[in-house]
This record gives sequence, C-alpha cells and structure tokens, in this order.
Amino acid sequence: MSRHVISLSMGNRGFPLGDYFGRRMRSAGVSGLLISKDEVIRFVGECMQKVGTDGNYSNIVAHHLMTADYRGHFSHGMNRMPMYVRDIESKRTDPHGVPKIINDFQATALVDGKNGLGQVIGKFSMELAIKKAETFGIGMVSARGSNHYGICGYYSLMAAEKGLIGFTCTNASPLMVPTRSTTPSLGTNPLSLAMRTDKSDEFVLDMATTAVALGKIELAITKGQDIPEGWAIGANGKTTKNAKEAYDTMKLMPLGGAEENSGYKGYGLATLVEVLCGVLSGSHFGKNIRKWKADDRIAHLGHCFMAINPTVFAPGAGERLGQLLGELRGLPTPGDGKVLVAGDPERIAMQTVDSQGGIRYHQNQIKICDDVAQKLGVPPLKPVA
Ligand SMILES: NC(=O)c1ccc[n+]([C@@H]2O[C@H](COP(=O)([O-])OP(=O)(O)OC[C@H]3O[C@@H](n4cnc5c(N)ncnc54)[C@H](O)[C@@H]3O)[C@@H](O)[C@H]2O)c1
Repeated sequence: MSRHVISLSMGNRGFPLGDYFGRRMRSAGVSGLLISKDEVIRFVGECMQKVGTDGNYSNIVAHHLMTADYRGHFSHGMNRMPMYVRDIESKRTDPHGVPKIINDFQATALVDGKNGLGQVIGKFSMELAIKKAETFGIGMVSARGSNHYGICGYYSLMAAEKGLIGFTCTNASPLMVPTRSTTPSLGTNPLSLAMRTDKSDEFVLDMATTAVALGKIELAITKGQDIPEGWAIGANGKTTKNAKEAYDTMKLMPLGGAEENSGYKGYGLATLVEVLCGVLSGSHFGKNIRKWKADDRIAHLGHCFMAINPTVFAPGAGERLGQLLGELRGLPTPGDGKVLVAGDPERIAMQTVDSQGGIRYHQNQIKICDDVAQKLGVPPLKPVA
C-alpha cells in the first residue's frame, strides 16, 4: 500500500524494562502515549503469535490494525486485538484457516475463508478480485466462512493503489435496529469505495451504515465521554447519550437516525450490504449472525470485494475525479472549515502521525494493551523516546 507502506519487519524487541517504564512515566498523561507504527506492528504481531497465529498471518493482522489507527480509525485498530485473541483462544477462529476458492467463474469467484482470520481472507479475496480486474476489466469475489475483517478502506485501497476502483463491504453481528423496530437485526454493515486520481489524490469512502461504528461507542466509554443523540437506543427505547448504556443495550440506529431524519436510508444501505455479503456468499446473515462478542458459535461472516478497471470505460476518469474533488474542496463555506471529501480526514490523521513520529494512543487504550501484554507474556508497547 504505497502511501502507508511500512516495513513489516518485527524490530524493536528485547528492550530493557527500566528504560520502558522511564519513558512511559515521561510521556504518559491525559494525552496518552506516542507509539511508532513499527512498534504497533511488533506488538500486535507478537500477541497474535502467542495465541498460535503464524508469522505471516500475524503480520497481515498487525499491518491492518496499525493502518486503521494510522488512518485515525482507533475503533478498529489495536482496540480490536483483544477480541481476535479471545476468539482464537476460545477456538471460534482458526488462526491457521487458509482461504480456498470453491467457485471460480471468469470475473467472479466464491471463497471459503475456512473460519480463518478476517484480514487474511480479506487480503486474499481482494488480491483475487484485482487479478480478475486486470484480466476482465472487473473482478468480483464473494467470501464466506470469515471473521471480523477490520476496516473496509484497507481493501478498497489495495485496488485503488493499482489504478483500479476498489469496493468492499461486510456483514457483521446484529446491532442495528431497522427503522420502526427495536430488535437488532442487521450489522453495522460497513462499505468502502476508493479511487485515485491521475495525480494520486484519492476518494476513499469508508463508512458503517449505522450512524457510527460500535467501536466509537467503546472508545467513548474508554475516554469517559457522552455520545451524540441519534447514535443508539437506550434502555427506555429512546435515544441515549450515555455511552455505557448504549453499549449495554447494543441497539445502534441506522445512518440518518430516526425515521423522520431518513434513517430508513441507512437501514436500506445495510440491507444492500447484506444482499452482497450474506445472501450472495451463503454465510450467516442478518439476525442469524452470532451476537457481538458472543463466542457460543463461529461467526461465519460474509464479505464482498470488487475491483474495476476504469480504463475499460471512457478515457480520462482519473483526471475527471481530480477535477471533481478539487471543485468540491474549493466550494465556499459560511464558516472557517473547508469542505472535505471522503478520505481527507484520514489523510489529515496520517499527516499528524507522520509529523509527530508515531500514533498517539489514549492512556486507557495503552492500559488495555498492557493487560493483554501481561496476560500473554509479550513485552508491552514501547513509547517513542
Ligand atoms: N469490520 C466491521 O465489521 C466494521 C463495522 C463497522 C465499521 N467498520 C470500520 O470502522 C471505520 C469507521 O467507520 P465510521 O462509519 O465510524 O467512519 P466515519 O464516520 O469516521 O467516516 C466515514 C466516512 O466519512 C468520511 N468523512 C468524515 N468526515 C467527513 C467530512 N467532514 N466531509 C467529508 N467526508 C467525511 C471519512 O473519510 C469516511 O470515508 C471504517 O473504517 C469502517 O470500515 C468496520
């Protein structure tokens, strides 16, 4: 992934603990700790290996989680690792599962993820879609037998970095209450579409089809903050601003919120994702998927991956996208803020990381990682000096 490619070497091992705690005392505080991208990969990789994942698959997961945090999606970076560890320990995910093509028809394929790691299945499937797009102009891969695969943008960008349009979506544990219901029956079902301009600018839409990803409510709890109105339904069946209550209730509102605010469109988008994921692949779908963080049975999630070669259509798509993004960003605004296009907030997050020399984590996230480190016997995260 050219712009965020970093070495996958597992460096920075074997540091003295005295040095570690000294640095931690100096840099900890309300602003948290600064951790280098390599160190995030080292830490996640070692944790995944401790629970039996081999080096290559560990690196795939570690690079993915680091990329999520680097792009500012802290809900889906290291925040997700304890869940992956737990699913392997409870034997609900097979860290050795090797994805297998079970149906290969010209520009399309069906992949059985063999209950392996979602990131491994996602990378395998998007690489296959890209290969097919290079041959046929378009490639579409449907995957089942999978687990939580992280941020959608990781996969759409894999295609965009090859000059293609990348698209992916996934189903997920039932958390969304469809408009007019109070029963969680669809996942946060995110989707992403990415495309580069001829000048390497990019549009990267990467979004849950609920008002927010559940991870943002988890993060609000971690930081002791309230959540905005319209994200979730509380115990009394009305929207709540209490993050803990929202997490306990596990009833997320669709993108748009209530019916009068067009929440039915978010509900429709989540159903669209389910058509492309569960319905097409034969995975579990809708409310039949196991509950969030339940380990009573395997997840058996479904994903969809598409790669499209814009050069088989009208010439100049990259230039036109560049013009469109420029025109949108250049629009006048009544306030100080500039108009952004999807992908800009992530670009700003990455620039911040690059300028400060690492990813800044909230102290409570560090504490969670320290607990995992201690439990697994892995050296804890070492902050940037
Ligand atoms: N694997 C899963 O089950 C799962 C489930 C849900 C979400 N996720 C991931 O969680 C991450 C967060 O999802 P989210 O919906 O909370 O994202 P978000 O709301 O932070 O951002 C959604 C999109 O809006 C764009 N955006 C943000 N502010 C903007 C602005 N002012 N102007 C224009 N565009 C703007 C972003 O670039 C992004 O493309 C995503 O990476 C998603 O793939 C994964």
